[in-house]
This record gives sequence, structure tokens and C-alpha cells, in this order.
Amino acid sequence: PTIYMVTPTHTHPEQKANLVRLSHTLLHVKNIHWIVIEDSVSKTVLVSKFLQNSGVKNTHLAALTPHEIKMKYNDPTWLKPKGVLQRNAALRWIRENLNPNTDNGVVYFADDDNTYSLEIFQEMRNTKKATVWPVGLVGGLRYEKPIVKDGKVTGWFTYWKPNRPFPMDMAGFAVNVNLFFNNPDARFSNEVPRGFLESTILEQLNVKMEDLEPRAENCSKVLVWHTRTEKTKLKNEQLMIKRQGQGSDPNIEV
Ligand code: UGA
Ligand code: MN
Repeated sequence: PTIYMVTPTHTHPEQKANLVRLSHTLLHVKNIHWIVIEDSVSKTVLVSKFLQNSGVKNTHLAALTPHEIKMKYNDPTWLKPKGVLQRNAALRWIRENLNPNTDNGVVYFADDDNTYSLEIFQEMRNTKKATVWPVGLVGGLRYEKPIVKDGKVTGWFTYWKPNRPFPMDMAGFAVNVNLFFNNPDARFSNEVPRGFLESTILEQLNVKMEDLEPRAENCSKVLVWHTRTEKTKLKNEQLMIKRQGQGSDPNIEV
């Protein structure tokens, strides 16, 4: 099966660094199709050139988050849902371009700033319905994870909003692509309460707790980390302009 890895990405100073780092992981993964969706009106030159040269099989899309729901650079990170319309654009592409009878695969919603071990791709490769595993450095804990008894998921080790139907991070599960064909209206929504993106998509895909297939040695190993890229302070750009009339060269891509 092919892994269809869905990655929203947005223009900010650390974007290219995140994408380069992630692409270098993916270069080690066989049979992966990277669907990268920019949060922008149209595809940018930076991401287009990057993907062309990345060496990773990819599809490049763009879907803009409208102004009213768009996060500002200095907003607290939890203020609004992120990546919603971008992931929906990828779901639409999947439904329009894959053949449910011949393309078997797995969909993984993988943000551009997390850290992925190579093992996690092996763990998700064979997913009947939905596979799950621990995620490190998330939810104010060293890890969050499904609790597994006798090979079945029975609950969750999560502190934050543990009563969500599926209280886990986006990086903690993958689903068979056929679920998107069997549930043709399933999509992400900007209207859901904080932390409910994962639960609402899994519910719409008609996934039940008893369907979950635990991976990573019965959810005992952390193979993916919810790392976040530090916002670089660029305050000396302005000071440089004051001091010598110009800042850094905008033609030099960072
Ligand atoms: C956490 C989860 O890990 C996300 O999967 C979930 O979408 C998010 O919470 C949420 O609840 O909305 P977090 O690390 O806080 O994510 O978010 P980011 O990594 O900053 O953003 C998630 C993805 O959306 C990234 O791939 C990012 O590039 C993209 N994004 C972010 C946009 O496309 N547009 C934005 O304005 C901001
Ligand atoms: Mn993130």
C-alpha cells in the first residue's frame, strides 16, 4: 500500500527549514506520496521549487484559510484550528484522483513541524481501518498514548480533555484510504471546539474504538514527536535598516 501523507504548510520564516527537514525523512520511505497543501491563494514559488527538487513523489495544492479564521503570527498557538481547509483540499484530491478499486493505501495527516521516525511509516503501512500509536512531547506530557489491553485499545493516557471521543494528536493515527470513499462527506471543520479535529474526522469515518489497530509494540514505543519549531526573532532586520539603510536581501530565499 501507498502512504498518502497529507501535510498542510504555511508561509512563515521557518517554513522552508521545516519542509527540508521533513523531506529528508521521507526520502528514506518507500512508496510514499506526499500531498502538500499550502495555506495560500495559490502555490508559491518557494514551495513549488522546493517540491520539484525534493526527490519525493508529491502533489502540490493550495487552499487559503480565510482571514477571519487565520492565525496571526503572534497569536497563542491554540487560538484557532489549523490546517483544516488544506487537509480538506487533499481529501478532495484523493477522492477525485484515486481509484477506490485499484489504489489501496493509507492516509496519514502529518504536519510539517513534527519529527517522524522511519519506523512509524512501517507501522502504519498495513492499516485495515485505523491504526494508532503514542505521540511524544504533546498535551503537556512526555507522551500521550492509547491504552492497550490484550491487543485492543481500551482507553487513553491523555490529561487534556480526556473525554474527547479520540483524545489524541493528529500524528497519532492513520486510516485506510477506502474510509474516505465509504464516507464521501467526511471532512475537517473550522467550527469544532479546540482539540476536536481528530475526533470529528474519525467519527465521520465511522471509526469505533474497537476498530483501532494498536501499533508500535502495543503502543509502548514513541515513534513520532509533536515537536514545534521555535519562532525565530527577526528584530535585528529593522535595526539593520535603521543602521545602514537596508536589511537582508529579499532575493535570498531562506
Ligand atoms: C496541533 C495538532 O498537531 C494539529 O494537527 C492540529 O491541526 C492543531 O493542533 C489544531 O488543533 O489546529 P500545532 O502544532 O499546534 O498542532 O499546529 P501547527 O503545527 O502550527 O499547525 C498544524 C499544521 O497546519 C502545520 O502543518 C502547519 O504548517 C499548518 N498551518 C498552520 C497552516 O496551514 N496555516 C496556518 O495558519 C497555521
Ligand atoms: Mn505542530
